[in-house]
Order: sequence, then C-alpha cells, then structure tokens
Amino acid sequence: MDSQSKSEPFMRSDLQDIFPLVAQGKVREIYELDEKTLLFVASDRISAYDVILENGVPNKGVVLTLISAYWFKFLKAALPTLETHCIGLNLPPQIPVELRPKYQNRSMVVRKVKVFPIESIVRGYIAGSAWKEYKESRTVNGISMPSGLVESGRLPKALWTPSTKADQGDHDINIHPKYAGKLIGQKYADQIQSISVTLYNVAYAHAYSRGIIIADTKFEFGLDVENDQVILIDEVLTPDSSRFWPVSKYEPGRPQESFDKQFLRDWLASNDLAGKENVAMPADVARKTELKYQEAYERITGEIFEDGLPSVLEGGVLVK
Ligand SMILES: Nc1ncnc2c1ncn2[C@@H]1O[C@H](COP(=O)(O)OP(=O)(O)OP(=O)(O)O)[C@@H](O)[C@H]1O
Ligand SMILES: [Mg+2]
Repeated sequence: MDSQSKSEPFMRSDLQDIFPLVAQGKVREIYELDEKTLLFVASDRISAYDVILENGVPNKGVVLTLISAYWFKFLKAALPTLETHCIGLNLPPQIPVELRPKYQNRSMVVRKVKVFPIESIVRGYIAGSAWKEYKESRTVNGISMPSGLVESGRLPKALWTPSTKADQGDHDINIHPKYAGKLIGQKYADQIQSISVTLYNVAYAHAYSRGIIIADTKFEFGLDVENDQVILIDEVLTPDSSRFWPVSKYEPGRPQESFDKQFLRDWLASNDLAGKENVAMPADVARKTELKYQEAYERITGEIFEDGLPSVLEGGVLVK
C-alpha cells in the first residue's frame, strides 16, 4: 500500500459567491443553479458515530459521486421507467477555470424536486437497528418476522423499512410502512416501496457478482410537481448510504466488518473517542479509509480509480 495520499482532502466547497447556497449536510453542499436545477457537491468530510471528523478522506467525495453516477446509469438501464435527479457531471460554465479540476467529478447537476420526508431503506440482511428490534420483539419496524433469524442473516426477501428524515442533529425514527403512507400519501409510499425494492434487488445481484454484499441501503425520493413523477434523488448505493460487506468475509451469526469505516470506528473506539466532537484521525487511519472507498469504487464499477479521473457524465451517460 502507498503510505501517502497523493491529494489533500477537500473539506468544504466554496461557491457561495457564484451560486446561492441552499443547504449543507454532513457531507455535501447544495447550490441553486436556476429554478429547476441544483449543484450537488460532495466534500471529503467523513462522519462516524454521528460526528463529523475534523479532517477528511482524500477523494471520498469523488468516489461517492462517481459510484452514484454509475448506479444512476446502471439502474436506468435495468428499469427504463426510472426517473432520477441526475442531469450530469459537466460543471456549470460559471465555475472559473482554475477551480474546475477541484470540482470535477465531485459535483453533479441535479433536478430540483420536492423531497419526500422519509428515508426509503431496504434491507436484505438483518443488522444494526433492525437486529436490535428483532431481538427485543421479533419485529422489524413493527413488522412481524419469522423466528430463528440470526445476526447479519439474510432475510427471506428484501424488506422495506422506512424511517423519518430527521432535521440535522436529530435521529431518524424507524416507522411501519403503513405510517409512511400516512406521512407522504399512500399512493407515493406504494410507488417508493416498489421502486426501492426493485432497485435493491437489481443492485444486490450486480454488487454480489463483484464481491460485495449490499446488506441494506437508503434511497431518497422527490416529487416533480409539474408531472407528479416520483424521482430517485440524493446519493445512490454508496458506502455512505449502505452497509457493504465483503462476500469473502461474510459469516452470519455475528456483526460483520464494515467495508469502509471499520478502521476509523476501531480507532475511535479503542481511543475512547466514539461520538466525541473535534476529533482528527491520524494519517494512517485516513489513508486506509481512502483506499477502502477506492476499492468500493473499483469493485462496483470495474474501473481503476485514479486521481483526476477523466470520466464525465454527459446527458446522464458515463463517457471516457
Ligand atoms: N434533487 C434534490 N433536491 C433537493 N434536495 C436534495 C436532492 N437530492 C438530495 N437532496 C438532499 O440533500 C442532502 C444531501 O446532503 P448530505 O448527504 O450532506 O446530508 P445529510 O443527509 O444531512 O447527511 P448524511 O447523508 O451524512 O446523513 C440531503 O438532505 C438530501 O435529502
Ligand atoms: Mg445524505
């Protein structure tokens, strides 16, 4: 392994003098390009145990953006009726030439939509909060489950387990699918459930063939109010929005190693820093994490990751 990253982490985008900044999340800034489009910029910030680290993971935002772009194209091909927010990776012309290399491949032009206030989680395996609930009540999101499931075991079929989408700082709350219908309307909840489970199953098979188990994942959707269409938004099937497990190390009956953040979590836990603010990770932890994100990119897309990748999306199509 190279012990040193070739690049500095990109901690925060800085385009507010060019475009209005409409939102900032744990990882991304969102700018308004015009009344119909947004610029979605992924930084190299990383969070663990719900806290953002002081330093970042070089190229993480590029990996997340290019994995999402790959899936948008892949899923659209598998499900031609799918509508997504992805317009492309071509940078808007207003970004000055000297800034363009920094922003290329970590910025996506997307459709502005009305975001549904739920997280559309699909689980193929039982882990995390679902396992905790199952142990206590043999239910997941209030849905009765068969007896005899084991930790990290595969579920009989992919299960839709939505949650609320909490404001920053708050925790999302798992909800019964019926309650999702009450929150956003039964018609939309049904569509979102059906699209999400289909996308999960398609992506699961592809990732599995590349050595990754997608144990669960979180999708987000919005509504194009002009034509009443449900649109897949946000990041898609990335290591940040999903539990990825290496097929080669999978063993039901125990917790699995996280594909990407395990080094960071282990380091935080062994130094009694889990959940603490203002923590910076040492260079070797950042570097190992960087290489895991790159590995996720390489396995899923089948491409070699290089700094300054020339790939761009034009009209929603990945071109080289
Ligand atoms: N097309 C879109 N239009 C409007 N908002 C969007 C669109 N796509 C995604 N979003 C929103 O943008 C935000 C993405 O930023 P980011 O991922 O940094 O935030 P976060 O979700 O708060 O953090 P984390 O994902 O780490 O929990 C999310 O709140 C998401 O709902
Ligand atoms: Mg997010």
